[in-house]
Amino acid sequence: MAEFKLIEKPEWGPLATFIPNKDEPVYNWIYYKEGFSKELVFRLAEMFSLKRGSVLDPFCGVGTTLLACKQLGLNSFGFDVHPVGVFSSRVKTRDYDTEILRQEIKSLIKAKFIHPHKLPDSGIVRRVFPRHTLEDAVFFHDQIMQIKNHDVRDFLLLGLMNVAVKCSYAYKDGAVIKVRKKPVPPLRDMLRRQLFRMAKDLGNFKTQECEAFADFGDSRSLPLESGTIDAVITSPPYLNKIEYTKVYEIEQQLFLNRIEGSPAVRSYIGLSLNRLEQDSSKLEKALNYGTVKSLPMETIPYLVDMFQAIEEMHRVCRNGAKLGIVVGNGCFPTGVVDSDILLSRMAESLGFTVDKILVLNKRWCTRNRTEKVGITRESLLLWEK
Ligand SMILES: C[S@@+](CC[C@H](N)C(=O)[O-])C[C@H]1O[C@@H](n2cnc3c(N)ncnc32)[C@H](O)[C@@H]1O
Repeated sequence: MAEFKLIEKPEWGPLATFIPNKDEPVYNWIYYKEGFSKELVFRLAEMFSLKRGSVLDPFCGVGTTLLACKQLGLNSFGFDVHPVGVFSSRVKTRDYDTEILRQEIKSLIKAKFIHPHKLPDSGIVRRVFPRHTLEDAVFFHDQIMQIKNHDVRDFLLLGLMNVAVKCSYAYKDGAVIKVRKKPVPPLRDMLRRQLFRMAKDLGNFKTQECEAFADFGDSRSLPLESGTIDAVITSPPYLNKIEYTKVYEIEQQLFLNRIEGSPAVRSYIGLSLNRLEQDSSKLEKALNYGTVKSLPMETIPYLVDMFQAIEEMHRVCRNGAKLGIVVGNGCFPTGVVDSDILLSRMAESLGFTVDKILVLNKRWCTRNRTEKVGITRESLLLWEK
């Protein structure tokens, strides 16, 4: 007997990736491999018949849900533990005076180069940049940090963050940064083009009067009142793909260490081993006795953390709230761990109704890169409180 309704929906597969956002103004101000698309949020809002109300993304990444909600006229609240995500979400969802932006861009690009007194000590930062590019990046960073208007400052900084990585030897491969020496384009030209393009984007970008709030926060304890959320549209870290904070080390170390209130990433889902024993008995109850014992040990911290995050979503949602959650299954040498099913079981045990699971993408899970051990699904979980 099938426990949940699993429905194949491959035509929505690309929407679970960031790729469609690459051609979307404002959404594409920073590339986030782990992100999903604006179109997915639009379709879920339509499926949930959301006309007004408050949408939560407790793992907001670079703010795609929040920005899409701003276009749809829905209030949104986003939280993430990653400084690159929270910073980008804020910059993308603010309102700007484009005339002021253009003037500031012009004076930044015209600024006469002065050799910076000090270059960053960080090993990775030094390795991924040719010296003259690093000097340019530090020079522009120093200029930007002197700007009193923080909205303008952050807008320029996001543009610099975006192009600096393109003008480096860094190559992001899964969870690691590799160094690939190659000719790099001149940073000043790239920055000018990027910033004017961003300012132009704003001219054609239609948003509505509503709140888009992004802040640092742990999805397992949200600063929200109970029963206040009408819908959740989100995507948590995927099992055994949890440690990608390192991939954004350059952006973080080079540009965000002087932005107020950027904490170090500590409370990442799947890393905590706190109170594991006490919490895994709760998990055991939610997943049917025997399931936990059959899972690879390394899945337990993830599942315990996700249990708490789902419990928290349940607390903040009002009765009747709809949830759309994109998640990928885990691939281990011993086989596939079906996170879509396990998280849905937890949801049911916490009081949600699992409407259905849409299967968006499927991939082989291999052992030693060649031997197939199963198929992993990337699924959209549709729940209701
Ligand atoms: C799959 S990504 C979400 C991407 C997002 N949907 C987007 O389109 O940009 C998962 C996010 O969860 C965040 N995260 C991990 N642990 C968290 C926690 N305890 N609380 C809040 N966010 C967390 C990560 O930093 C990451 O940005």
